[in-house]
Amino acid sequence: MTFAVIGATGQLGRDTLDALVARGVLASDVIAIGRNATALHEIREQGFQAVAADMNAQQSIESALSGVSELLLISGSEVGRRLEQHKSTIDAATRAGVRRVAYTSVLNAAAPGLLIAAEHKATEEYLVASGLAYTMLRNAWYTENHQQDFTAAATTGKIVSNLGDGRIATATRGDLAEAAAVVLAEKDKHDGTIYELSGDSAWNYHEFAASAAEVLGHDVEYIAVEDETYAQQLQSGGMPADTAGFLVALNANLRAGLLGTTTSDLATLIEHPTTPLPAIFRQWNAS
Ligand SMILES: NC(=O)c1ccc[n+]([C@@H]2O[C@H](COP(=O)([O-])OP(=O)(O)OC[C@H]3O[C@@H](n4cnc5c(N)ncnc54)[C@H](OP(=O)(O)O)[C@@H]3O)[C@@H](O)[C@H]2O)c1
Repeated sequence: MTFAVIGATGQLGRDTLDALVARGVLASDVIAIGRNATALHEIREQGFQAVAADMNAQQSIESALSGVSELLLISGSEVGRRLEQHKSTIDAATRAGVRRVAYTSVLNAAAPGLLIAAEHKATEEYLVASGLAYTMLRNAWYTENHQQDFTAAATTGKIVSNLGDGRIATATRGDLAEAAAVVLAEKDKHDGTIYELSGDSAWNYHEFAASAAEVLGHDVEYIAVEDETYAQQLQSGGMPADTAGFLVALNANLRAGLLGTTTSDLATLIEHPTTPLPAIFRQWNAS
């Protein structure tokens, strides 16, 4: 078996499976790995091999990777536990004889101050030290993280955020999945490379609101609030205090521009411009 994707049952993973097939990879040459039985069943129906395995259970990952050459390790979703899971997975990959691991990290993983960077940077370091061939896919903040703001704009004409004037160089999961598929399918061409995968341009919430207004055909007001006000608003919507605190702190990182850097790496890999806000707004508006 040539390819495996860990995290294949998630949103980025599902898009990556589709992108691999779109590039001519045979679905039967791909092992899709995750835990969600329903998603695994659907993926199997599409012709992929689908295997249940858990990064908390190393032997299950090692068995799933038997005979795999090229692995895409999509970072886990349990913040705080991910580093141990990733290390265990890299060890399992080594024992299973995997040739290369492509790892989905975060844009600017090496920059100081970014809350979510530490686990990614430490995983990157562990992967390099493992001696396996590697490719780092330092993924941008997803544009889809802001879909609910577009929905709010559509329904109330208002967007409230603590992002201030901060600029974010988001990219869609679809574009990032396409890049992951290119890197996986082209095998050793991308060995030892670190890609900083941003959208082609960065935007702030004033521009987001203006673009949403144009697509929606009505005024959209952006209301910039202080961190404390935003945290209270999230909690009054039912979010636990610690989750709200984490999101507010993350937004403060975004406000400071820590995920606002643009590069041409993503557009170069996928050989087309990245998806701009109005294009994805039109998709959301039609759905
Ligand atoms: N760039 C961004 O803006 C951004 C934002 C949020 C998160 N992320 C990171 O990007 C990753 C992919 O994003 P996404 O939107 O596709 O997330 P997602 O839809 O939540 O998918 C997460 C995937 O990770 C798998 N997973 C989690 N823990 C696992 C474990 N212990 N063992 C095996 N599989 C495990 C899940 O499998 P099951 O569902 O089958 O359990 C699922 O396939 C996230 O996991 C996170 O690390 C990036």
